[in-house]
Amino acid sequence: MSGRIPQAFIDEVIARSDIVDVVGSRVQLKKAGREYKACCPFHSEKTPSFWVSPDKQFYHCFGCGAHGTAIGFLMQFEKLEFPDAVAMLAERAGLEVPREAGPVAGGGDLYELLSRAALFYQQCLRDDARARAYLAGRGITDAAASDFALGYAPDSWNALLGRFGTSPEERRRLQQAGLIIERDTRGAERTAGFYDRFRDRVMFPIRDSRGRVIAFGGRIIDQGEPKYLNSPETPLFHKGRELYGLYEARRAQTEFQRLVVVEGYLDAVRLHQAGIRYAVATLGTATTQEHLHKIFRLTSEVVFSFDGDRAGRAAAWRALEAALPLAADGREIKFLFLPEGHDPDSLVAAEGAAGFEQCLQAALPLSEYLLRELGTGIDLDHIDGRAKLAARARPLFQRMPDGVYRELLTDRLAAEIRLPAEKLRSLLAAPAESGRRGAPTPPPDRGVRLRAGVSPGRGPLLRQAIALVLHHPAAAQRLDAVDRLERVDQAGVAVLRELIAQARSISAPTTAALLERWRDRPEYARLLELAAKAPLVAGAEAAASELSQAIEKLAVAQGAGRRVDELLEKARESDLNSEEKAELNALLRAKGRSGGQGPAPGGG
Ligand code: UTP
Ligand code: MN
Repeated sequence: MSGRIPQAFIDEVIARSDIVDVVGSRVQLKKAGREYKACCPFHSEKTPSFWVSPDKQFYHCFGCGAHGTAIGFLMQFEKLEFPDAVAMLAERAGLEVPREAGPVAGGGDLYELLSRAALFYQQCLRDDARARAYLAGRGITDAAASDFALGYAPDSWNALLGRFGTSPEERRRLQQAGLIIERDTRGAERTAGFYDRFRDRVMFPIRDSRGRVIAFGGRIIDQGEPKYLNSPETPLFHKGRELYGLYEARRAQTEFQRLVVVEGYLDAVRLHQAGIRYAVATLGTATTQEHLHKIFRLTSEVVFSFDGDRAGRAAAWRALEAALPLAADGREIKFLFLPEGHDPDSLVAAEGAAGFEQCLQAALPLSEYLLRELGTGIDLDHIDGRAKLAARARPLFQRMPDGVYRELLTDRLAAEIRLPAEKLRSLLAAPAESGRRGAPTPPPDRGVRLRAGVSPGRGPLLRQAIALVLHHPAAAQRLDAVDRLERVDQAGVAVLRELIAQARSISAPTTAALLERWRDRPEYARLLELAAKAPLVAGAEAAASELSQAIEKLAVAQGAGRRVDELLEKARESDLNSEEKAELNALLRAKGRSGGQGPAPGGG
């Protein structure tokens, strides 16, 4: 991956983002006092136990225990890696992600390399009459070819390698970019080395939302296997995340009434060429929720257009399953099944753009498609047929968010199977037989233990102090008595000291900003749990005073602990006088009262 993201930038992204917006654009939030609540997007539930706190910039589900910051939410909800989640937030906030130099080749280098490769392939297309003739024969105009930066990979094992891979370092980066493949040297073959992945293929550069080339698809000219070859997963390219043609669509227009999702590269190019500039293609993979999130960020209507064959119908059903959890009110999800033997490419060739758009008008709404598929092969005139339909529908309905859309669909289904809607509702609400439904529950981080002996939760007092800082970082900024902590060497106090220092180093610190500084450290899970708890006091003012009292007590307890150790030591070697005995007794009683507070074993 690219170099580390500087901490100051993460602070900035957190400061400029609002978790209520981030969550609210994906989950329907309801205001509840100072906070917001919703049905948890990470597990299936009927009554809301998912809370978002604008003060803490933190979310927490009391049902499944999911919790975290805006960055954590994006990682969990959009299934993003940390740097990608930061990048997504940064983009929203209009910030450019800077990178500290990392040990690995930076992403910037790979982008640059891929862009040079794309230019090279484009040049090769200009130079190759056969490849140009192939595209012309497929009805692709020069304008469309240049719009999509189509190219040609020459019929050679080392055209790219020879040009861009002269040093071992360059070859390593070409390999990282997925452009060359290392020879298998296990067999008799001795010529260790690399060869070009794409040979004698028409090249379709895949660009990210900013227009940077991140991968390629290559189609064989005429016949051969495999028909399409795609870049492997690389640091820049994750197949299930990208939509081919989305960059070109956004370049052509900024407002979309709808997007249409097709299966093939050529379908997308061909539709754009015909003026249907809102077509995107999945890259030979099933439609994912990430695809759908990308789409619904741009428009509220999506039409899946799949081939009428078996494979196309299977792809459509998978798209439906992915779309169900996102079938919220106000969104239109439709399915267009093309006549057998047609794909969008051939249909637009035969009927023109107007003909294709007419077909789009006739696309099946998700509800129709769902009911039609549910009903196939079921005899609705019989009671058991209807029961079967309800059973089939249950897991699908349970994946849908609560809302008008789901209610209407339930009514439709009820009418279909001639059952009172209320009866059906209770049938559908019964627990599904299979455990798998809805978004996967997050990985349990409950069991994660802190480094031995460094638990911030060891002493209740220390835990309270840490929670106070986490919940009210501003309180740590007004603290006078931090120095008192210097002399406390109880295990875990280091965590408190560091948190306070961090809170003081950020200009407007939030719970989220503090947590993000611990993401890669063993204490992180425990701190998240503490952050998820209800604040002990309301307001930074009260928190500041609580906090300095807690620190004072810690310091005193520390002093007392030292004295206890001293006295015990002395008692082992000689006798304590009556004054010393009384002092020890008093200290031990005080220690008992403060709930075992004092220096941790081995800590002081
Ligand atoms: P299709 O087989 O429908 O091809 O694959 P197509 O797009 O209509 O291509 P033409 O018209 O024959 O040239 C649909 C998509 O599935 C992926 C590609 O993304 C392709 O565009 N695919 C298909 C592969 O990745 N590999 C393959 O071997 C075949
Ligand atoms: Mn085709």
